[in-house]
This record gives sequence, structure tokens and C-alpha cells, in this order.
Amino acid sequence: MRHPSPLSATSAGPPSSRTLVVVAHPDLASSRITARLAEAVSDLAHVTVHELGPAYRDGLFDVAREQQLLRDHDRIVWQFPWYWYSVPTVLKAWIDQVLTYGFAYGSSGSALRGKTLQLVTSTGGPEESYASVDPTSRFTMTQLLAPLDATARLIGMRLAEPLVLHGARTMSDENLAMHAKRYRELLGSTRRTD
Ligand SMILES: Cc1cc2nc3c(=O)[nH]c(=O)nc-3n(C[C@H](O)[C@H](O)[C@H](O)COP(=O)(O)O)c2cc1C
Repeated sequence: MRHPSPLSATSAGPPSSRTLVVVAHPDLASSRITARLAEAVSDLAHVTVHELGPAYRDGLFDVAREQQLLRDHDRIVWQFPWYWYSVPTVLKAWIDQVLTYGFAYGSSGSALRGKTLQLVTSTGGPEESYASVDPTSRFTMTQLLAPLDATARLIGMRLAEPLVLHGARTMSDENLAMHAKRYRELLGSTRRTD
């Protein structure tokens, strides 16, 4: 039985929008942003929140289980803190181990084709640090996310417009709550970039 969301009447969506939220943080207990965002969507009826930490043992995932989770959902969210202009190690390990030849790519690897990939991340740096004129980084988030965009293209997933929270370190509780609400509403409908 589906339970309507208190914030969005459309968030309980049809079966075709079953959403897997892959939460990738090295220590969720110490997280402010990632933990708050995961909590904000955890009670949505069509959403499965899947923490990678407990599923990662001795550097390995149960690949068959992870791939079944992907098969069982139509929209996949990668939710992670932005580390060194990239994804945290646990998400990189998951990508390396789970998106295998014959499953995600290759002549018979079509399990993810047509599904949607939604990136949800947070940066310590402010939005200005991710403008092309910034003397330190010089690159926009769109440019920095290019490897994930290329990954999505290779495995036939449609990349949704990423949801990025900037300035994580100094973000007020009020602004974090507003962002969490936006995220919750986003999982009710996703705008695609293509
Ligand atoms: C190892 C590490 C690397 C980081 N690299 C970046 C970075 O490249 N750019 C940036 O803006 N913030 C960076 N940060 C800041 C994190 O993105 C920020 O602390 C995180 O989004 C907060 O989320 P959390 O509360 O869930 O941990 C880094 C933080 C750590 C611990």
C-alpha cells in the first residue's frame, strides 16, 4: 500500500518511477548534509534508500545483490559528498565493481538502458568556486561532472539535471531544511537534461 507524502502529492508516483537512492558517505554517522538529505526522502513510498557503508565489507560489495537492486528500480540516485572534485572512494568502488561488462555495458550489457541517473551532491566550497572565472578551480560543476556524464552515456542511462548544494560547511539549518525539501520534491518528478 502506498502512503501519500506530506510534502508532494506526486511523490508516491507510479511503479515506473521506483527510485533507488544510493547513499555514499564514508561515515554517515558524522555527516550533516548527506545524512539529512537521505532522511528527507527515506519515507517516500516509491523510494528505497540504500546505504553503501554497511554493504561494503573488506573492500567488496555483494555484486549480485547490488545489481538486483538496480534492476528493481527505474531511477537511480547517487547521493554523495563532493571529495577532491570527484566521488568518495566507496562510490568509486561501487561503480567499479557493480557496473560490470555484460551487465551495464558490452553487447549484452543492457540492464540499465533507459533508466534515469540523478546525481545529488554537496560541496564545501561556495558556488563561486565552481564558476569558470574562479582563479583556484576554474571549472564549473558541469565540467567537473563530465566523467559521470560519460559513464551514464556509456551505460545508456539518461542523466537528470544534478542537484548540487554548495557551501556545505557554512550552510544554515534553515537553508539545509529548504534544500532537503527541494530534494524530496525532486524525487516526485525529475527533469532530464536531454
Ligand atoms: C576528503 C574530503 C575531500 C573534500 N573535497 C572537496 C572538494 O574537492 N571540493 C569541495 O568543495 N569540498 C570538498 N570537501 C568538503 C565536502 O564536500 C563537504 O564537507 C561535504 O559535502 C559535507 O557533507 P557531509 O556533511 O555529508 O559530510 C571535501 C571533504 C573531505 C572530507
